[in-house]
Amino acid sequence: MILRSKVKDLLEMEAGREVLAKGWVRTKRPSKEVAFIALNDGSTIKNIQIVLDRNEENAPLLAAISTGACIAVRGQLVESVGSGQKVEIKASEIELYGACDPVRYPLQKKDTSFEYLRTVAHIRPRTNTFGAVLRLRSQMAFAIHEYFHSRGFVYLNTPLITASDAEGAGQMFQVTTLDLANVPRNKKGQPDYSKDFFGRQTSLTVSGQLEGELGATALGEIYTFGPTFRAENSNTPRHLAEFWMIEPEMAFYDIKDNMDLAEDFIKSLVRYALDNCREDITFLNDRYDNTLIERLEGVVNTEFVRLAYGEGIKILKAAVEAGHKFEYPVDWGTDLQSEHERYLVEEHFGKPVILTDYPKDIKAFYMKQNEDGKTVRAMDILFPKIGEIIGGSEREADLAKLEGRIDELGMSRRNLEWYIDTRRFGSCPHSGFGLGFERLLLFITGMQNIRDVIPFPRTPKNAEF
Ligand code: 4AD
Ligand code: MG
Repeated sequence: MILRSKVKDLLEMEAGREVLAKGWVRTKRPSKEVAFIALNDGSTIKNIQIVLDRNEENAPLLAAISTGACIAVRGQLVESVGSGQKVEIKASEIELYGACDPVRYPLQKKDTSFEYLRTVAHIRPRTNTFGAVLRLRSQMAFAIHEYFHSRGFVYLNTPLITASDAEGAGQMFQVTTLDLANVPRNKKGQPDYSKDFFGRQTSLTVSGQLEGELGATALGEIYTFGPTFRAENSNTPRHLAEFWMIEPEMAFYDIKDNMDLAEDFIKSLVRYALDNCREDITFLNDRYDNTLIERLEGVVNTEFVRLAYGEGIKILKAAVEAGHKFEYPVDWGTDLQSEHERYLVEEHFGKPVILTDYPKDIKAFYMKQNEDGKTVRAMDILFPKIGEIIGGSEREADLAKLEGRIDELGMSRRNLEWYIDTRRFGSCPHSGFGLGFERLLLFITGMQNIRDVIPFPRTPKNAEF
């Protein structure tokens, strides 16, 4: 019995052996005496060519094989006479696992736009582009674990269901088993969450950071890597309601150590992609954006700019004075819009920028306050074409200052007592950041829309598949 070989491996083998391949038909092209079938099994962007004799015996089978059909092919691996491939399979036996109705098959040549493919997201992994993107996604997840594992970071699993709003931005999806048609109410007429599943109001997490800090203040250096959820009504090419985030948190790191790690981390990931995913990246580069590889190499080989928010605002205001038009106004104290971030990165500096020391009022409660009383030790990494790819900070380690900030923002201390305990019992300087996995993938694949780098995107009014 011969075992199945993957297409990726078959393409590397020497000709002259009996092989078994299984996969989905990409194209079928009859010629005079033989038919050529391009077969793909997802192991590589490349197809293996199958050559089948066009005789009477094979005719019904050949008629039943169309694009999208699933087949098993037994045959001889031979040197290919045609150009484009070293070897091909001279088929001796083909088994049709599943035919594919050529009329109803959603992947037709006539519409291959990304917008259309999102409506058939259950089938789009079968296209070259999404095969490449999804293989890259998997490779990068592995690279992330390897990066931290090799540096002694502990992989910490933080909860998805939570009773606290880690970012304090009120963008949470509620989790409840209460009967929405008949909500139990307390004396004030509000929903009585003591009757809910967890006996309190709960939501899907927006970040694992708070629990990450608990881990870091015991294990030293940890990272999380999991799904996070934001009920922000942002219909942009860079926002998802469900996205994956990597959040390292490190005891004894100050803001500079934090920036150094973040810069090294992201460069290592891009280098990993260039070194290990060359075929898929080359495909995306050649097909959609022939500056992709150049951009990736540029990031690996450049030192990121480090700039205080206040300095960034000065540059942006100077640009406005010189006649540059932004949709949103810029002034000290306002949050930067993606057009501002991209101006700094793409037009002013021409490389990634780490922006630090943001006004405290536009950042979360847990960030370490600077001596000026106005800014916090925040750091956002801004990338070409993406804008913010990483957000992080040194954390407020001082109990009184942290409590003061929570009160100032009108947040409930009671819900956060467990978190505040880290500052009561052996508080330490510490820092961390969050990398949006899909934003990283946007950069690495050169795709334009975040919906196209996650298999099944969740966005406002869209939760199909
Ligand atoms: O800047 P954010 O909100 O920071 C945090 O959540 C911190 N707790 C991180 C930390 O310090 N541990 O989010 C971090 C990153 C952003 O820079 C962005 O890349 C990504 O997460 N992100 C999103 N990605 C896709 N869709 C969204 N709606 C996103 N919101 C944030
Ligand atoms: Mg942010």
